[in-house]
Amino acid sequence: MTEAHLPAKRPSETLVTIFGGSGFLGRHVVRALAKRDYRIRVAVRRPDLAGHLQPLGKVGQIHAVQANVRYPESIAAAARDSDIVINLVAVLTESGAQTFDAVQDKGSAAVAEAAKAAGARLVHVSAIGADAQSACAYFRAKAAGEAAARAAVPDAIVVRPSLLFGQEDDFTNRFAALARALPVLPVVGADTRVQPAFVGDVGLAIAQLVDGRGTSGATYEFGGPEVLTIRQVFEMILKFTERDRTLLPLPFGLAKLKALFLQFAPGALKLTPDQVEMLRIDNVVPDAAKTAGLTLEGLGIVPESLEAITPSYLWRFRKTGQFRSSAA
Ligand SMILES: NC(=O)c1ccc[n+]([C@@H]2O[C@H](COP(=O)([O-])OP(=O)(O)OC[C@H]3O[C@@H](n4cnc5c(N)ncnc54)[C@H](OP(=O)(O)O)[C@@H]3O)[C@@H](O)[C@H]2O)c1
Repeated sequence: MTEAHLPAKRPSETLVTIFGGSGFLGRHVVRALAKRDYRIRVAVRRPDLAGHLQPLGKVGQIHAVQANVRYPESIAAAARDSDIVINLVAVLTESGAQTFDAVQDKGSAAVAEAAKAAGARLVHVSAIGADAQSACAYFRAKAAGEAAARAAVPDAIVVRPSLLFGQEDDFTNRFAALARALPVLPVVGADTRVQPAFVGDVGLAIAQLVDGRGTSGATYEFGGPEVLTIRQVFEMILKFTERDRTLLPLPFGLAKLKALFLQFAPGALKLTPDQVEMLRIDNVVPDAAKTAGLTLEGLGIVPESLEAITPSYLWRFRKTGQFRSSAA
């Protein structure tokens, strides 16, 4: 691992290509890079659906192109002439051709090979918990993706976030939506520990890595200011949404049985057996990363807490909305 050198080019002359830039974390990375004046190419499967990114930059600063990590030629074309490539592509659950192997493993290899061919630096986004030996297929695929990225670009910076929260997340919003509808809420992994990170902080941190402030070849692990159990997170969400609900912790065996059916459910009810495996595993920043300064704090970022951010968007799940609190 070596200290990254600050790039010779100015941001306005530096082309950053972001695969998966239209997603939840993607828009925050795009926003942070746009503010710094980078030229941004967003490589997505449906550029026509990436219009929400345009207002984040100046006219002409953000350009969307078509690319699918399952088609390496499209990836090579999208990465051409890039100075820096960021890979944010992933799927949380498999569906059709969108398998973990195709997207997270082979797809990461295709992005890394394309970065190498372009002579670009690579920031590869993985997840805390990535482990080739994990019982969770998602985490095994994330480990395979990291290995593929490093095989092609040994100096790649790997970023592993914990659970992310923010206005467009599928975590606090999903639970708040369920709490609105159900009087009793089953909780899988009630005692599993997580370190939720604000998506805006992680977007900013990735922009700093693009600036060249990180260590080449290092693995950064990003978590928020608090380690909480999933039960504590859900209790906080109930408090912010002013819902009086009963939490019902489910044993993993029962949750896995339920997931056999719920994997076919739509929307917020969907739960796959692999997600149950994921919820067994603590998701916190390891001490080694803290000691080495490979964290948000190590990059000089003071991470925001759930308590500071989530009330600003979860109000819409309150009975009284934003105008009048039931406690008032
Ligand atoms: N959210 C979290 O809590 C969390 C926690 C830890 C790590 N991470 C990691 O952070 C990264 C971003 O996650 P996210 O939450 O922003 O996920 P997301 O909102 O689902 O975004 C994923 C992106 O990948 C794109 N994508 C999916 N399949 C593709 C394919 N075959 N070819 C090209 N693009 C494809 C999606 O575009 P389409 O619109 O085309 O589907 C989307 O832009 C991922 O690597 C994830 O594993 C997330």
